Amino acid sequence: MRSLIDIQDLSVAELDELFATAADIAEHPARYAEAAKGKKLATLFFEPSTRTRLSFEAAMLELGGSVIGFSDADSSSAVKGESVGDTARVISAYADIMAMRHPREGAALVAATRATVPVINAGDGGHAHPTQTLTDLFTILREHKRIEGLTVGFCGDLKYGRTVHSLISALSRYAGVKVVLISPAELSLPGYIKGGVLLEAGMDFSETTDLEAAIPALDVLYMTRIQRERFPDPDEYERLKDSYVLTPEKLVAAKPTLSILHPLPRVNEISVRVDADPRAKYFSQVENGKYVRMALILSLLASAADKTPLTAPGEEMPTMACHNPVCITRCEQELLPRFRVTNRELQIIRCVFCEKRAEERR
Ligand code: CP
Repeated sequence: MRSLIDIQDLSVAELDELFATAADIAEHPARYAEAAKGKKLATLFFEPSTRTRLSFEAAMLELGGSVIGFSDADSSSAVKGESVGDTARVISAYADIMAMRHPREGAALVAATRATVPVINAGDGGHAHPTQTLTDLFTILREHKRIEGLTVGFCGDLKYGRTVHSLISALSRYAGVKVVLISPAELSLPGYIKGGVLLEAGMDFSETTDLEAAIPALDVLYMTRIQRERFPDPDEYERLKDSYVLTPEKLVAAKPTLSILHPLPRVNEISVRVDADPRAKYFSQVENGKYVRMALILSLLASAADKTPLTAPGEEMPTMACHNPVCITRCEQELLPRFRVTNRELQIIRCVFCEKRAEERR
């Protein structure tokens, strides 16, 4: 049985296959109208969502399947203290596949270690959002016919923006991709992406705070929202919230072939006046998300006969601890923390659930 917890769970060949299926679905939807007949998708959303939940639900319905689930943690037994692991085990008795969004980093991985049906990570805290990455890559492919060799700018909240983390991780596997990181210093990329992905993969990347100066070199501009809900300090959010606002005036020197993407929702970071620009692709990105999720559901259902839950990666290290306050290991009943060495030379050890750097137990 396969689950999708991290975008690296899929090889480039598997990504190509998913995108080919998604393109075929977009062209011939009727051919897929009964492809998941008799199957149920459970959507377990412990955090708000419009696009991810509803695109998963639309995807399953358009495949002829049905949908159960909840869109609010307060209407689930999580409020009574039920663990993520038990929830996943229980839902496995009701559904053939599940998509989970949770505010705790690593929650979907925990779910996959207990579920007997495929689990899809629909966003875990500020950590990862692999199905948004499928959406993003599919959109880039449709617009540019390639991913290799593109220059991709990421602008806004690179610290808490989980879609940025997953997309950079995916791009690291395509030759010649250049990354331009545009953010205030306070919202720069976390170490597990900068050190663990960009530097490890030897990617060509640069950092700036100046959006306008960066724009002319870009093939793709990936704008992001400042993630208010992840800030421990509301005053810091107020100070940073309008760091970048993309307007038509700032696009004057942009390439005519630029694609402007945004995972949405936007708050104020792209003026609505940009929507009429043919380079604004964020609404076609939304539609592409449904097709790739249809392809993903079909692919994971094909692996579902084997009911073996995922084995958590890494190993127990009794002397190490994860101090990330939003890691799932900080609250999940009897979950033993696990770690892996990600760089032997520099002695970097990371929690396998949230990927934050582990520290010696205090
Ligand atoms: N892009 C995205 O994840 O949107 P939602 O939060 O609305 O699902």
